[in-house]
Amino acid sequence: MIVTVNRKAHFNAAHRLYNNEWSDDRNEYVFGKCANPHFHGHNYELIVSVTGEINPRTGFVMDMKLLKDLIKDKIEEEFDHKNLNIQVPEFKDLNPTVENMSVVIWNKLRSHIPKNLKLEITLYETPRNFVSYKG
Ligand code: NI
Repeated sequence: MIVTVNRKAHFNAAHRLYNNEWSDDRNEYVFGKCANPHFHGHNYELIVSVTGEINPRTGFVMDMKLLKDLIKDKIEEEFDHKNLNIQVPEFKDLNPTVENMSVVIWNKLRSHIPKNLKLEITLYETPRNFVSYKG
């Protein structure tokens, strides 16, 4: 039986969205408030979903304690209360949109989850705006 287990997590982070080849006016037109040169924060809600066969010996798809610790070490510790543009190396040259963030998070977790399990990231930037990435 194939089952998906999901773990929710949360972090607060600041960012600025901009393209440095564009004027300030164009950046503000495209990115709106997210182009604010003084940065601003979001309350990100993360859902990490792992899909695979139930292990008959444990009854688990994946030990949720391990998944919880992995998310804490690799994502929350790296992103929480950080300025994404300045403090997280992956966004040095990559706009920290919720789309790009979901790909970065997937890449940070993938190698730590058994190969036979599928990984999906769902990331909420606001209660109504969220993205998902399956690799
Ligand atoms: Ni924003």
